[in-house]
Amino acid sequence: MLNNPIFSIIAREQKQKEQIMSGTITFTMIKPTAVKNNYIGPILKMINESGFSIKAMKLTQLSAKQAAAFYAVHEGKPFYESLVEFMSSGPIVAAILEKENAVEDYRKLIGATNPGQAAEGTIRKLYATNLQQNAVHGSDSDENAKTEAGFFFSFFERF
Ligand code: CMP
Repeated sequence: MLNNPIFSIIAREQKQKEQIMSGTITFTMIKPTAVKNNYIGPILKMINESGFSIKAMKLTQLSAKQAAAFYAVHEGKPFYESLVEFMSSGPIVAAILEKENAVEDYRKLIGATNPGQAAEGTIRKLYATNLQQNAVHGSDSDENAKTEAGFFFSFFERF
């Protein structure tokens, strides 16, 4: 009876709810230029060595429509159209990361949005090309982490 797959689905569903409620997940993308430059490996190494576990991950390419929807909060800003074009220009890595205090700790690990202002040793300082091509995206709140994770991953793709 306990081997019934429905129980493991219920347990996973419960775990995913707890991750969201307790602020232990964040969402990241490794952006097209960083993927092209073969920085996937070094960036994932930094993520793991900083105590984050990978709970979902895929290499994929966004359509312009998907990139526009993902970054809809920036619609109307001068950089929006060019950001959408860039983010749909090549493959990206999308991932859900788990750790205590995930959103804040991951933002510390990646550094300031503008790599020119990013602290030494941060992912953006090491691997960004410029403000737009700033190596990685990281969620800026627990609420957005939930939305962004759901944008890329179904229940069955999350662990
Ligand atoms: P990200 O963390 O993915 O969130 C929004 C993205 O918009 C940001 O990283 C940058 O890539 C980009 N961005 C933010 N501000 C600017 C700006 N002033 N000029 C160009 N791109 C920007």
